[in-house]
Amino acid sequence: MRFDLDRIDSGTVYKLMAATVVPRPIGWVTTLNREGRVNAAPYSFFNVMGDNPPVVALGILGDEKRGFKDTARNILDGAEFVVNLVPEVLAPQMNITAVDAPAGVDELELAGLSPAPCAYVKPPRIAESPVSFECVNHSTLVTGPFQALVVGRVLAIHIADAFVKDAARGHVDTPGLDLVGRGFGATYIRTRDTYEMARPTWATFKRP
Ligand SMILES: Cc1cc2nc3c(=O)[nH]c(=O)nc-3n(C[C@H](O)[C@H](O)[C@H](O)COP(=O)(O)O)c2cc1C
Repeated sequence: MRFDLDRIDSGTVYKLMAATVVPRPIGWVTTLNREGRVNAAPYSFFNVMGDNPPVVALGILGDEKRGFKDTARNILDGAEFVVNLVPEVLAPQMNITAVDAPAGVDELELAGLSPAPCAYVKPPRIAESPVSFECVNHSTLVTGPFQALVVGRVLAIHIADAFVKDAARGHVDTPGLDLVGRGFGATYIRTRDTYEMARPTWATFKRP
């Protein structure tokens, strides 16, 4: 079946895309508003998009009632944000921070989480998260009514010492991080069920 997206309402379009592009990593984004209050919210339209310079992208949908979501508003205003990652043990707190709280409500405090200072940007990272990316706004495209595609340049990555296996080589204990991703609807996906597949080289490649 083909779905012609110009003829389908955006709620159904969302379902078609979010139910097929899985798993999606979750960027748990902390920002500051103009008054300096902390905002936190999860974004699963998130990924790493380059390493030179290191960039990440966030897809922030428009909100019918609020216009720009607080995260988009704060990044447009303040140009700085932190992307924290979500281990399974923090998934309930991450979910609390997705509440449609009025602007200015500190979702970190609401979820019983603590802010930790960053080296290069003003917004705090989430102390309990094992990985945090300090980012500045590289470029933001407004792709629709109050819908933004944010490209952030990553200035620093914090990784909890327990998960750094070899700092010089950049080796990380990925299974130990126990991160979760978003699936369809309200389902989440663990990163424990992995398998290995060696990448072919042309020199040794044999047609199956
Ligand atoms: C796991 C998860 C992933 C989400 N991903 C997105 C997303 O990629 N884009 C988006 O606009 N909203 C997403 N949301 C909804 C926002 O987190 C929610 O609208 C939140 O209230 C926005 O907060 P803010 O206004 O403080 O930025 C997600 C929610 C959850 C629970």
